[in-house]
Amino acid sequence: MKHFLKETDFKAHELPGLFALAQSLKKGRGRHTPPSLAGQTWALIFDKSSTRTRVSFEVGIHELGGNPLFLNKNDIQLGSSESVEDTSKVLSRFVHGLIVRIYDHSEVEQLVEGATMPVINAMTDFLHPCQIYTDAFTMAERWATDGDLVGSLKGRKIAFFGDTASNMAYSWIVGAAHFGMQIALAGPQKFAPGPELDALLAKEGLPKNYTFTTDPMEAARDADVVYTDVWVSMGKEEEKQERLATMAPYAVTAELFAAAKPDAIFMHCLPAHAGEEVEQAVLDSPRCIIFDEAENRLHMQKAIMASLTQTVRD
Ligand code: CP
Repeated sequence: MKHFLKETDFKAHELPGLFALAQSLKKGRGRHTPPSLAGQTWALIFDKSSTRTRVSFEVGIHELGGNPLFLNKNDIQLGSSESVEDTSKVLSRFVHGLIVRIYDHSEVEQLVEGATMPVINAMTDFLHPCQIYTDAFTMAERWATDGDLVGSLKGRKIAFFGDTASNMAYSWIVGAAHFGMQIALAGPQKFAPGPELDALLAKEGLPKNYTFTTDPMEAARDADVVYTDVWVSMGKEEEKQERLATMAPYAVTAELFAAAKPDAIFMHCLPAHAGEEVEQAVLDSPRCIIFDEAENRLHMQKAIMASLTQTVRD
């Protein structure tokens, strides 16, 4: 039984097939979609709001021939009057897959303990692997001139700005190591990546491939991708004023974007707050690919679900 909780859950040798499947599903959308989830119901448990993740998963399940069942965490007894593991055991008797957006990463790991169906992490406070796989696919679509999607990522540099202790920063650090990329992070010293990240890299046998600096221009130099995320993530609202003030020097301005490679692309997992973490001029640039990135959530997540379902059959 295979689950997708972190970037390393698809091994390096599985990545070319997964990316090729995402590309084929994208090209064939509306014409030929193999009904990989025919007769299946996949549950989505969400404890945080979502536009892209919820809609792309629900549409993707439909397009693969399955039925999505959306459950707000407060609608069920998960972790309140029933243990996380028991909830997972019960849901395993009803549904064929589980997609979870929840705050505490350890709760997704507990769900896996009781699950006899694939479990997908749709974002925790620690990692957001569906976004990272989608982002890597979106980059590879632009860079792979010879059809080698995954190979086109190797040696490329991402520069990540702002909240460098966030789930997006952590997920990109793990993802970059897994894809053979480099990542330079720039943010306030207080938001330098913590020891839990180095522990995960060591546990997964990945190199410590990232650098951290408080100088945004240094991080931008020679970058192929300029990346940022909101400064006030869900659950951090009480820190809003402090975060806006501390992270202001790390806004992606046109000047900072220009310090990267001349053909560098701008990416953001969205939603974006123009005038905070990114300047409107950068969002308006022809090298800003945020809506391709958003669309690709659908194609990559369909590939992930189809692949996980295949491992159940095998
Ligand atoms: N990027 C992302 O996960 O978007 P949503 O919060 O809208 O799902």
